[in-house]
Amino acid sequence: MKIGSGAFCVVFKGKLEGRAPICKIQPSVATQCFENCEVAVKKLPEYADESAKNDFVQEIDFMKRIGYHSHLVSILGCITDPQLDPCLIIEYCCNGDLLKYVRNRRLATEDEEFMRAYYVKFCFK
Ligand SMILES: Nc1ncnc2c1ncn2[C@@H]1O[C@H](COP(=O)(O)OP(=O)(O)O)[C@@H](O)[C@H]1O
Ligand SMILES: [Mg+2]
Repeated sequence: MKIGSGAFCVVFKGKLEGRAPICKIQPSVATQCFENCEVAVKKLPEYADESAKNDFVQEIDFMKRIGYHSHLVSILGCITDPQLDPCLIIEYCCNGDLLKYVRNRRLATEDEEFMRAYYVKFCFK
C-alpha cells in the first residue's frame, strides 16, 4: 500500500517477514524487535532520472553509515545491488509525518475557531 511520495521517491507500507538485516549488523535490545513487523519501503518511481537515482543511492549510503539510533527513523535494511532497483527499508511511523500532523492540528484549530464564531452568532440571535 502506498503511504506517501516526496521529492524523488515513493513510500509503501510493507510487512517484514523474519528479522531485519539491522538485527545482525547492530545487535542490541532495541534492534531485536524488528522482526515480522510493519516497515516503510522507499523506492524510486519508474520514471526516475539519473540525478534522482544518484540522490537515492546516496541517501541509502548515508542511512547505512548512521545505522540504528533510537531517536531517528532508522534503516532496517536495503537493496543496493546495481543489477536491482535500489530499495530502502525503514521503521514504519504509524502517525505519519510531522508536516501532516501540524497541518491536521491547524485544521482542527480552525474548525474549533469556526465553531466558536458560530456559537457566538447563535447566542446573539
Ligand atoms: N518511515 C515512514 N513511515 C511512514 N511514512 C513515511 C515514512 N517515510 C516516508 N513516509 C511518507 O512518505 C512521504 C515521502 O517520504 P520522503 O522520505 O520525504 O521522500 P522523498 O525523499 O522523496 O522526499 C513522507 O512525507 C511520509 O508521508
Ligand atoms: Mg521528502
